[in-house]
Amino acid sequence: MKYFKHLLLSTLLLFLPLIGKEAKTSEKPVPFKPLGNYEPKDFSYLIGTPGFDDSLLNMHFTLYKGYVKNTNLLITLLQSYAVAGKPFDYQYQALKRRFGWEFDGMRLHEFYFGNLGGKAPLGKSSALYTMIVRDFGSYENWKRDYIATGMIRGIGWSILYFDPKADRLFNTWINEHDLGHLAGGDLILVMDVWEHAYITQYGLDRAKYIDVFFQNINWKVVAERFHNALIRR
Ligand SMILES: [Fe+2]
Repeated sequence: MKYFKHLLLSTLLLFLPLIGKEAKTSEKPVPFKPLGNYEPKDFSYLIGTPGFDDSLLNMHFTLYKGYVKNTNLLITLLQSYAVAGKPFDYQYQALKRRFGWEFDGMRLHEFYFGNLGGKAPLGKSSALYTMIVRDFGSYENWKRDYIATGMIRGIGWSILYFDPKADRLFNTWINEHDLGHLAGGDLILVMDVWEHAYITQYGLDRAKYIDVFFQNINWKVVAERFHNALIRR
């Protein structure tokens, strides 16, 4: 028995350096595939939108470009940490936590500007209108709830979400850019209610800004988003 114990210990000691080497080899970082850079989209065609001062829109476009820039910066920094074999550093973790905030700031602005610039109302025979009435009782009920969501104190977004799993619409409050998103949901209508979206023109009158927003929704784009979400589900 003593002999076997000795043999087992000797065998372990013999292979221990190899086990260590194996572990070290597997920790060697593999180069990342390039993720590519995000390019800011051009929304200058919105200049002249009724109720939106040119200066307000230009300032907002500049802010949006900042989110694109910082998203790209974070991608580069996080890759450099990972490639350097330091993915468990505190700085890496802090940057990783920040990524969703910058990315969502970029993407939500694209949805927001993308659903502006329209004139015609949502067609009553459209699939979106029909589902709004089904889920909220009436278009007016939905609009009241969407506005109430956008009037929540704080900085954030009011978003009409479609849950493809349950075939349901929700008006959702997003805190800042990244808190409150519905996993697996499709963004249908997006409204920015950060103060920078209106305060230089409307002061604290957020309700007036929301009214102007509604007058300029591009329902064609919004209905198309919903149509595409229905196809994807
Ligand atoms: Fe904004």
